[in-house]
Amino acid sequence: MIPLCIPEMGGNEWKYVKECIDTNWVSSVGSYVNLFEDRFSEYLKCEKAVVTMNGTAAIQLALVTLGIGNGDEVIVPSMTFISPVNAIKYVGAVPVFCDIRKDTFVMDENKIEELITEKTKAIMPVHIYGHPVYMDKVMELAKKYNLYVIEDATEALGSEYKGQMLGTIGHIGCFSFNGNKLITTGAGGMLVTNNNEYGERAKYLSTQTKTILENKAFYHEEVGYNFRMPNLLAAFGVAQLEQVEKYLKIKRENAEYYNEILKDVKGITLPVEMPWAKNCFWLYSILVEEDYPISRDELIKKLIDNKIEARPFFYPVHDMPPYKECRKGNMDITNEVASKGINLPSSVSLTKEQIEEVCKVIKGE
Ligand SMILES: Cc1ncc(COP(=O)(O)O)c(C=O)c1O
Repeated sequence: MIPLCIPEMGGNEWKYVKECIDTNWVSSVGSYVNLFEDRFSEYLKCEKAVVTMNGTAAIQLALVTLGIGNGDEVIVPSMTFISPVNAIKYVGAVPVFCDIRKDTFVMDENKIEELITEKTKAIMPVHIYGHPVYMDKVMELAKKYNLYVIEDATEALGSEYKGQMLGTIGHIGCFSFNGNKLITTGAGGMLVTNNNEYGERAKYLSTQTKTILENKAFYHEEVGYNFRMPNLLAAFGVAQLEQVEKYLKIKRENAEYYNEILKDVKGITLPVEMPWAKNCFWLYSILVEEDYPISRDELIKKLIDNKIEARPFFYPVHDMPPYKECRKGNMDITNEVASKGINLPSSVSLTKEQIEEVCKVIKGE
C-alpha cells in the first residue's frame, strides 16, 4: 500500500530520546521542553511558543487564554477536521460556520463579515491542507469589530502568508504534531503568539496554574489544565524540527511533480498556490469534477484497489449531529468541495515512481 501520509524519522530522534531515558528526564519538566519551545518560536520568528499534549489542547488553551467562553461566538469553517470546532464547544463557546473558497479550500474571507454579531468574540481561520486563508481581510475585520484571531495552523507548518509564517499573524496560532503532520512527536501540539502576556498566561494555564510557595507547597490561584508535553516527546520534536526545511522541500517537489503529470487531466482540479501564499502542501489534494469519467468515491475505490491510500475531504462539520443546529452562512461551496475532494499520498518518503503510479490510476492508463 502507498500510504497517505506517514512520519519520517531520519535524524536525531533516537539519540535525543535515549538521552532523556539515560538521564531519567522523561516527564513534563526537562531541558528538551524548553528547547523545543525556543527552537519552534525561533523557526516561526515569533515571541513565544508553549508546547501542549496535542493540537486540540493548544486550540482549547488559546481560547481559554483569550478569555473566550460561555455563549461567545467563534466563526470557523465547516470544512475542517472537527477538532477546532470541538475545542470551541469545550470552553462553552458557540461555533458559527463560514463557507470556504473553491480554489484554496479554506475559509472565504469575503463571507465572514455577514456572520458577525454582538456575541462574536473570535475568528478561527483553519489553513486546511496547507494553504493560507487570506489573512489581511481577517485581521481587518478583527480590528473593525474588536475580535480575536486564533489561527488553526495545525496542517500548515512552514506555510507562509505574504512572507510571514502561518500561525504568527493572528493573536494566537496553534500547531499539531500528530503522526500524520509535517513533523511529529507521536502526539503533541504548540501554541504560538507574538504577545508575551498571552504566552505567559498560556504556559501558566497549561501547567495547572501551579505556583510554588516559599515553603514549597503548591498553590493554585485559578482553575488550570494539565496540557503539558513530556520531555521525552519534546526531545523527539527537537529532532523532527531540525529536519523541517528538508521535509518542506520534498513536499513542494512532490506537489510540483503531481501537478506536472495531472495538469491536463479532464475533470481534475489541481491545488493552487495564490501569489501571496506559500503552501506547505501538507496533503496534496485534488477535486474530481462532474466531467471526470467516474465519481469521486469510485476513484477512491479504484486507488485503494490499486493499493494506494486516498482519502475523501473532511465531511462538513455543520452537517454532523453535535453541530447541526449551529448558525451558519450559505454552505454551497463547502458542500461541493467536500463531495469532490481527495487527498492523495503525500508522505515525505513518497518516491517519484509512486507518484507516477498514483497518477496512472487517475489518468486511467
Ligand atoms: C485542522 C486540524 N485542527 C486541529 C487538529 C488537532 O490536532 P491533534 O490531533 O494534535 O489534536 C488537527 C489534526 O489532527 C487538524 O487537522
